[in-house]
Amino acid sequence: MPPRVPRTTDPADVDRALFAAALDELVGPALVLDSQLRVRAASRGAEEVLGFDVPLGSSAATLLCGDRPKRPFAEALAGGVPFQAVIPRPGAVASGEGGGEQVRVRSVPLGGGADTIGWVVHVAAVSGDDAEPERFHGLWSRDPRMKQVFRLVEKIAPEDFTVLVRGETGSGKELVAHAVHALSSRKDGPFRALNCAALPPNLLESELFGHARGAFTGAVKDTPGHVQLADKGTLFLDEVAELPLELQAKLLRVIETRTVVPVGGRDALPVDVRFVSATHRALRAEVAAGRFRADLMYRLRVIPVRLPPLRERPADVALIAGKIIEELNARGRRKITQVSVAAEAAMERYEWLGNVRELRNALSYAFAIGDGPVLQLDDLPPEIAAPGPVGAEVTVVAAPPETDAEAELGPEARRIRDALARTAGNRDRAAKLLGWSRVTLWRRMRALGMDEG
Ligand SMILES: Nc1ncnc2c1ncn2[C@@H]1O[C@H](COP(=O)(O)OP(=O)(O)O)[C@@H](O)[C@H]1O
Ligand SMILES: [Mg+2]
Repeated sequence: MPPRVPRTTDPADVDRALFAAALDELVGPALVLDSQLRVRAASRGAEEVLGFDVPLGSSAATLLCGDRPKRPFAEALAGGVPFQAVIPRPGAVASGEGGGEQVRVRSVPLGGGADTIGWVVHVAAVSGDDAEPERFHGLWSRDPRMKQVFRLVEKIAPEDFTVLVRGETGSGKELVAHAVHALSSRKDGPFRALNCAALPPNLLESELFGHARGAFTGAVKDTPGHVQLADKGTLFLDEVAELPLELQAKLLRVIETRTVVPVGGRDALPVDVRFVSATHRALRAEVAAGRFRADLMYRLRVIPVRLPPLRERPADVALIAGKIIEELNARGRRKITQVSVAAEAAMERYEWLGNVRELRNALSYAFAIGDGPVLQLDDLPPEIAAPGPVGAEVTVVAAPPETDAEAELGPEARRIRDALARTAGNRDRAAKLLGWSRVTLWRRMRALGMDEG
C-alpha cells in the first residue's frame, strides 16, 4: 500500500505518515494503543480493513466495539490479557451498510505483565462466507485460497493433466496428491510416492526406473521401479526440485515416450502413469539457476497448485488444532475440551514453519506433558509458548533431556541456525532461504535469544 503523503510539513503529520507506513511494513494492518487503550498509531492497512480513518487519541474500545452491550474484546483489553475475536466491521456498522462483514482482531500486550505499556492490535478482514469450514480429502480449511485449491483439484483431477503442487513442508502437498488420485479415473489403480530428496542419486535412479538383473553388484533380479509400480495409477514425486539433472533427463524421456528403460536394461517398457509432483521451491528460480531443466518444468507443471502456508491462514490454526485435538482425545489418556485464550493466541501468532505437521507435533507434545481438560499456554512447546519480546505470560518449561544437544534447540531455532550455517552467517540470504523478511528473521532471533554476535 502506498504510504499516505502528508500535505503539510507539520512534524506531527510527517510522523503519523511515517509510523503508519512502518507499521504496515513491520506487522501488517495494525493499531498501536497506549496503556490507556487510546489509539496512538494506525497503519493504512488497518484503516482500509476497518473502513474509516482512525482518529488518533480515540478510545480503541469505543472504536472497535461501539456501545454494543457485549464487548468481550474491549473487556479483554481492559483486563490486560492477549485476546482475539471476530467482530462486526466497525466502518460498515457506522455507515449502516451491514452486510455481515467481519474483522478479526488480535491484541498483543507490549512490555510484560503488570508493566504493560501498550498494545499492538492486529486487524484482518474476514468475510462471512469464508468462515465456513470445509473438509476436502483430509484437508480442513476455512481459508478462501485453500477452497480455491479444492475447487481447482476437483476440476483437473479427472483428466490426466500433470500437477505440480508448491508449498512449504507440512502444508498438505501429499494430501493434495492423494486427492488428485482419488478423484481420477485411476483411483482403483496404485498410488506410489517417492521422495526425491531422501535418497542418493544412484539409489534414486533405481528406485524410480527400476533395474535389470546384473545391472550392479547386488542386482540379483529384475526389479521394477516406482514408474512401473505406478502403472495405471499415479506417481507422486515429492521434492521434485531435488532430482539430479541426469535423472531429470531420464524422467523427461519417460514422460515423453511413455516408456521406461530400467537401469542396466535394454528394452523400453510401456507405462501408463499420471505424474503429480511437489516442491517447496520455486521451480522457475531453479531453472534460472541452471539446476532444473526448463523442458521438464513445463511437462510437470501443466497445472500448478499453490498451497498457502499455515501462517497466512490464521483462521485455520484454531480449526485444524480442534480437529487434531479431537483425534488425539480419542486415543490418549488426556481429554482436552477447551483451549485457553492465551494458548490459542500463542498458536495463532506463531510462524509454523513446519505448518500443519508442526501443529500436530505441538499438540502431541501438549497431550503428553499437560494434564486436565484445558490446554494451557505452558502445555505448548517453549518456542510456541514463549515467543519472546511480546510475551505477557512468558512461561518457563522444563528443559528437554540433555542427552541430545540438538533437542535443546526448538525446531525454529534449529532452522534458523541451519539457514545461517548454509549462508555463512549472511542474514539477508538466510532470511530469503527461510522465506522471511530480514526484519522477521531479526525479530525471531531476538525472541529466541540468538541475537548476540
Ligand atoms: N488442511 C489440513 N487439515 C488437516 N490436516 C492437515 C492439513 N494439511 C496438512 N495436514 C496434515 O499435516 C501433515 C503434513 O501433511 P502433508 O500432506 O504430508 O504435507 P507436505 O506433503 O506438504 O509436507 C499430515 O499429517 C497431514 O494429514
Ligand atoms: Mg511431504
